[in-house]
Amino acid sequence: MSIVETLPKTNHSALLKWVDKMIKMCEPDSVHWADGSQAEADALFDRMVAGGMCVKLNEEKRPNSYLFRSDPRDVARVESRTYICSNSKDAAGPTNNWEEPRKMRRKMKELFQGCMRGRTMYVIPFCMGPIGSPISQIGVEVTDSPYVVVNMRIMARIGDPVLEALGNRGFFVPCLHSVGQPLLGGAEDVSWPCNPENTYIVHFPEERTIVSFGSGYGGNALLGKKCFALRIASCMARDEGWLAEHMLILGVKEPSGKKTYVSAAFPSACGKTNFAMLIPPKNMQDEGYEVTCVGDDIAWIKPGDDGRLHAINPEAGFFGVAPGTSYATNPNAMESCSRDTIFTNVALTDDGDVWWEGMTEEPPAHLIDWRGEDWTPDSDRLAAHPNSRFTAPIRNCPCVDPDWERPDGVPISAFIYGGRRDTDVPLVFQAFNWNHGVYLGATMGSQKTAAAEGKAGELRRDPMAMQPFIGYHMADYFRHYIKVGNRLKHRPRVFHVNWFRKSRDGRWLWPGFGENMRVLKWIVERSTGQAHGVETALGWMPAYKDISWSGLDYPQEDWEELMDFDNNAWKEITLQHEGLFIQLHDHLPKEMVYERELLKSRLLGT
Ligand code: OXD
Ligand code: MN
Repeated sequence: MSIVETLPKTNHSALLKWVDKMIKMCEPDSVHWADGSQAEADALFDRMVAGGMCVKLNEEKRPNSYLFRSDPRDVARVESRTYICSNSKDAAGPTNNWEEPRKMRRKMKELFQGCMRGRTMYVIPFCMGPIGSPISQIGVEVTDSPYVVVNMRIMARIGDPVLEALGNRGFFVPCLHSVGQPLLGGAEDVSWPCNPENTYIVHFPEERTIVSFGSGYGGNALLGKKCFALRIASCMARDEGWLAEHMLILGVKEPSGKKTYVSAAFPSACGKTNFAMLIPPKNMQDEGYEVTCVGDDIAWIKPGDDGRLHAINPEAGFFGVAPGTSYATNPNAMESCSRDTIFTNVALTDDGDVWWEGMTEEPPAHLIDWRGEDWTPDSDRLAAHPNSRFTAPIRNCPCVDPDWERPDGVPISAFIYGGRRDTDVPLVFQAFNWNHGVYLGATMGSQKTAAAEGKAGELRRDPMAMQPFIGYHMADYFRHYIKVGNRLKHRPRVFHVNWFRKSRDGRWLWPGFGENMRVLKWIVERSTGQAHGVETALGWMPAYKDISWSGLDYPQEDWEELMDFDNNAWKEITLQHEGLFIQLHDHLPKEMVYERELLKSRLLGT
């Protein structure tokens, strides 16, 4: 198969017209409509290997897998260059960058003019969610990055079946992307073209369009993911009465055979992928507990006719953070990326496999690091970038839920919010009701990680783990959340967890990973009316005896410290919540203020 011009297999006139306009503006050398086939992916990989853009990994050790190294300046999402260009600044709210849409469109036009010269333009029809599901949505990404094509093929359903589902009139979200580095006058191509000085990730929420320039990395370039499935979808969800959330979805099977689904929001790289693929401790497995994964990052959640919320995972792959992932921490993720996987910015072993910090206890004696340089354990730097990734198909995951592609989604019984907090925040507590749950999500905070720009360790407020992903005014998002829940006949129960609390002498108090199953069991049982809880000022909490300890010798003193909270410290935390609310005051729903007042009086009264 040759990657020369291919003809569109569609008569969708609006789509053809839009692509035509993009061709005229970007001036690519050729145009390729992605059909999504294996043959097409193979040909693209062959071409990228030949051009030095990626390395094919050892077929025996890591079948059908490739390693890419990005430009060191293009390694993460760039929130400072991400814009919500709604018609009014007020609609974007104080937490988003905003620019007047006409002005931004003019700027984009200048940048995109001729930006694909010397390159192929790929047109990728993609579907977020199972094709044919009433919850799914279609987009079309135009890009000059073959890396984007092969990643999108894993992360979404792409190509001919999507065009067929789109038909001649179907709605699609136009997504325009360029690495922003044309190949001019016979210049030699660099292996990772990008344009960091001019990077812009722009959303036009009223138009439902996305324009991304200058970065080839992850969420900046795979436009179905954060840009569409969260920022644009959150606007669709607001207008249509559903939720687009930065949430994993998992199923818990109890020994009785009963299955309960929960969804959970954690800020980037906070163990979300590990939680989504949790393996229960041996004793609990023997008792009959099983956890299955529907998704690890994004959930589209709609009220169903049964009065409950139903969720689909709009994605078809994992774009997981590699460092820290190992057979000890997450065997299911390791199996998922054992084949058919694209690695970005991890290290290469001498036998053509991959390695990253935390994969094995002992590092290999020699590696090529993520910058393409020789590395040994004595080298004074990381071998893999802290935000290095694997792009792996969900179908490879040993614990994938049998219903992960169910068109009407899975029924959700609990929402879990979590963050990374060294101090003050107990392991788990349950909201008293839906509005209190929205307050817990709205006031979530977490210590920063490497997935976004900024200094690791700093506390960042991250409502519902959606701070970088809400496509409109954050306070209106809270209002919408309250409305969606209160219209339901059967609301999910809402919980807050913190796996990362430390003791007064600086030890981790909770073992985390598979042991989180003990917390999950309590959550599921609370959501289905089976478990006991103790009322506290923060919410309902399990007592030591309410947790299953089979196979774990966990001291009660540690539990008391883990679940303890200090009223004065929490009065201080509540004051910090006010900081967020003041920023949002002119749109803030009154329910948030009531919840804060209730929390304050509970703290005073205990
Ligand atoms: C991600 C993120 O990549 O949240 O999933 O940053
Ligand atoms: Mn994420």
